[in-house]
Amino acid sequence: MPEFVIPEYRVATDRLRIGVFIRLEGLKWHEHPFLFKNFKIANDDQIKTLQELGIKEVICVPGKSDCTPLKEAPQSIARDATTTGKSVVDELWRIKQERVERLKKQQEMIARCEKSYIASQERIGQIMTGIAAADANSVEDVAAFAESFSAHFLKDAESTLHLMRFAQQDENIYYHSMNVAVLAMMLGKEIGIQAEEMKILCQGALFHDIGKTKIDRKVLVKEGRLNRAEMDFLKMHPKYGIDLLAFSEAFPKLALFIVYQHHEAVDGSGYPKGIKGPQIRLLSKLVTIANTYDNHCNKRNPADSLTPYEALSYMFSKEKGVFDEKLLSAFIKCLGIYPPGTVVQLNNGAIGMVIAVNPQDQLHPSVLLYDPEIPSKDALVIDMQDDPDLKIAQSIRPAALPPQIFDYLSPRTRITYYVNPTDASKGEGAPP
Ligand SMILES: [Fe+2]
Repeated sequence: MPEFVIPEYRVATDRLRIGVFIRLEGLKWHEHPFLFKNFKIANDDQIKTLQELGIKEVICVPGKSDCTPLKEAPQSIARDATTTGKSVVDELWRIKQERVERLKKQQEMIARCEKSYIASQERIGQIMTGIAAADANSVEDVAAFAESFSAHFLKDAESTLHLMRFAQQDENIYYHSMNVAVLAMMLGKEIGIQAEEMKILCQGALFHDIGKTKIDRKVLVKEGRLNRAEMDFLKMHPKYGIDLLAFSEAFPKLALFIVYQHHEAVDGSGYPKGIKGPQIRLLSKLVTIANTYDNHCNKRNPADSLTPYEALSYMFSKEKGVFDEKLLSAFIKCLGIYPPGTVVQLNNGAIGMVIAVNPQDQLHPSVLLYDPEIPSKDALVIDMQDDPDLKIAQSIRPAALPPQIFDYLSPRTRITYYVNPTDASKGEGAPP
C-alpha cells in the first residue's frame, strides 16, 4: 500500500516548536540569516529569530518533522520575541557572513582550478600533436610537464580531488588522458609511491592511449559492438603507442610498460599479451584501474555512462578479476562513498552534486547545491563538515532529476577531475 504523505501547509511562526521541519518562502538566500531555507527547528532561538525578522508564516513539512506545530501560540514566546531575539539574529548573520566569505574563497579557488585545468589541457594537446609527428622535443616536454604535475601530488598539503564543470566540451582524448593521470596519481599517492615513480606514472598515464591515433577513426567511433577484425585492430593500440613513444630516449622505459600493459588483467583475460598478476607492473595496474573507471563514467553516449558510484560497484562486483584486489580497494577508499560527480539529496531535502571529497571525512564532502534563486555560476557550495547535522540521505541517478535541476548541477557531458592547483595556505605550486 502506498505510504500516505501529509501535505505541506502554512503555519504561523508563533506556533512553531523544536522538531518541526520548516521551509522559508519568498526570501532569497541573502535576505535571511539562516544557512538553509529548509531546516528542522533545533532551538527556541530560531523561532525568536524568525519572529524578529518579521516572518509571520512558514511552510511546515510534516514528512520531515518530529512533531506537529503547537495548536496555539504560547504567550511567553510571543512576548520574548519582541525583546530578546536581536542578539541571536546578529549572531546568525555573523555566522552566515563568515560562510559567505568562505564561499567566495572557495569559488575563487575553483575558478583557479578550472583555469589551470584548461591550460594543462592545451599543453597536453600540443605535446600529443608533437609526438604524433615524431618531434623529439615533445617527448622532453612530456618529462617537464610530468615532473611538475606529479610533484603536486606529493605535497604535504591535501590534494583534494575536484570535479570540473564546463558548459561545453568538445570531444577529444585529452580529457580522458588527464582524468586517468589524475586518478592514477591519486591512487599512487594513496599506496605511497615515491617521486620518481610518480613522474613515470604521470607520463605513462597521460599517454597510455596515444596509440589510438593510429587506429582508424571509424573503429574508434563505431556505435555498438565491434566485429572480430575491428576488435583485433583496436587491440593493437598499446603496441602502436610504444612504437610512437620509443623513438626518443627521453620517454622512460618504465613508462612504456604502462602504455603497453594498460589493458592487461590480473586474471590473464586482458591484452595484448594476456599476462597475469605478478607479470604486470605495479604502475600499469594503477593505470588500468583509473582507465577503466573513467571509461565507465564517460561513455561516448553520456546516457550510457555509469554514475561514479555505479562504476565503482561494477568494477568491484563484475570485473573483480581484472584488477589487483588491494589496489582496487585503495582506489575505492580514495574516491569515497560519494565520489565527485555523484548527485545527492541531503537530509534537509536539498539536492546537489558532490564536487570534492574530504579525504579525512568521506561522508561529508563538498556539495554544490541546487537553488533556483541563485544563478548556476554562483551556486552555493557547502562543505558538509561545517554542518554536523547535515547528512547525505541518498544518491540519485542524474537521469531521474527534473531537467532544470540536471542542467543547473551538471552543464556538461563529461565528468572531469582535477586537483586543487594551489596549496591554499601558501598559494603556490600550481601544475603547469
Ligand atoms: Fe587503451
